[in-house]
Amino acid sequence: MTPDHRHLDHQHGHTFPAGFVWGAATAAYQIEGSASADGRGPSIWDTFARTPGKVYSGHTGDVACDHYVRYAEDISLMASIGLQAYRFSVSWPRIQPDGAGPVNPRGLDFYDRLTDELLRHGIAPYLTLYHWDLPQALEDLGGWTNRSTAGYFADYAAAVHRRLGDRIAMWSTINEPWCAAFLGYAAGVHAPGRQDPAASFAAAHHLMLAHGMATQALRAGGAERVSLSLNLAPVVPLDPENAAHAEAARLVDGLLNRQFLDVLFRGGYPQDLLPVIDRHAGSEFRHDGDEDVIGERIDALGINYYSPCVVAARPGTPANPAYPGTEGVEFRAPNGPVTAMGWAIEPSALTDLLTRLGRDYPGVPLLVTENGAAFEDKPDLDAGQVADPERTSYLATHIAAAAEAIRLGADLRGYLVWSWLDNFEWAEGYRRRFGLVYVDYWTQRRVLKDSAHWYRGVIERNGLRPEDSSP
Ligand code: FCB
Repeated sequence: MTPDHRHLDHQHGHTFPAGFVWGAATAAYQIEGSASADGRGPSIWDTFARTPGKVYSGHTGDVACDHYVRYAEDISLMASIGLQAYRFSVSWPRIQPDGAGPVNPRGLDFYDRLTDELLRHGIAPYLTLYHWDLPQALEDLGGWTNRSTAGYFADYAAAVHRRLGDRIAMWSTINEPWCAAFLGYAAGVHAPGRQDPAASFAAAHHLMLAHGMATQALRAGGAERVSLSLNLAPVVPLDPENAAHAEAARLVDGLLNRQFLDVLFRGGYPQDLLPVIDRHAGSEFRHDGDEDVIGERIDALGINYYSPCVVAARPGTPANPAYPGTEGVEFRAPNGPVTAMGWAIEPSALTDLLTRLGRDYPGVPLLVTENGAAFEDKPDLDAGQVADPERTSYLATHIAAAAEAIRLGADLRGYLVWSWLDNFEWAEGYRRRFGLVYVDYWTQRRVLKDSAHWYRGVIERNGLRPEDSSP
């Protein structure tokens, strides 16, 4: 399964395997705006963003990047740098304003136009069905803590597939179930803002069940390429020689990574995690046979990687609210370079992650579906230029790290930058800019950042020149 890999030269240039896919990603609520256009219903993010104190400076996705209106301009910009794949998400409440029941054709019309416009420019549409914007009507019935939500999701998946199934290059069911469940239902820093560890484990299970049921529905409709995206990260003990630190790392790795990977690829939850789940949430929500549904074969695993996680054992530390059961575990602040999010910049952790996936969960092609960084960009709008050398360096070093993973045997098939556009960065609102394209939110003008011009060269050459990968 290992793709062939040829080095451009031996001075750290990297050419990727033929057919390697270069792309960029966004998500519906973060860019579309037009929050009540064409019959769209409210989502949990509309509600959450309107709740005082939840999102930086009261920002909402009401207007965002106005992409719902400006999609054609956005796609022609993508084409101008030679983007090969564009990963976008469909807003469930545009398709089913109440989350279940009748399908709103006007909502589907938008994704129909978007898909055709991408294809007209030779860009492969990678479609994600759920990037966190649950219809509020379903949250009112318990949201992801309610098992029925998984069934509704499969119906929604089938409806989208009926309209777009002939044109989508890659289907992805769920984006980052860990974030949706644990930031949304345990830490409460994302929608729906609940702080209930029991609910978060049930939500995680139902998100994965939704993935499995939707995968079955997509396959029944004839979909050939189905995937999902997990936010994964190496969890590193502060001192690997110290058994207590290593144990802390194992627990956090179980919660963040193996909770999802093992059910997908090994037929069940990790043995060491089950007691933690049972202690917080019981086991009633796990029904016989669920693991078979969740473990339905997929064609690719999407990996969203930003930063590793370093932990230490420190008795007396309260649990991290996003990681129920981590009493006594300290999550260490980074002590090296960080992005504007405060996230550690560690490209080698991406190599470690990809090689570990190849080793521990062999046989599934890998795709980096998100990688990128927020920095304090200083645009020169008069000159139409945004100098963002830190982002270019972040991308170059991570792409080099991906090349190294391929060299070590990881079956990596593509790399997608987060994000195509600056956008609504969830609880951080618009103050964090991840885009290859700068968005002036006052005028909705788009400006390709220097990193986008640089990325055009990477795509053209299918890799990095030696001078690209030295920061
Ligand atoms: C990921 C999300 C994406 C974006 C990046 C920075 O967790 O999937 O929407 O917010 O982080």
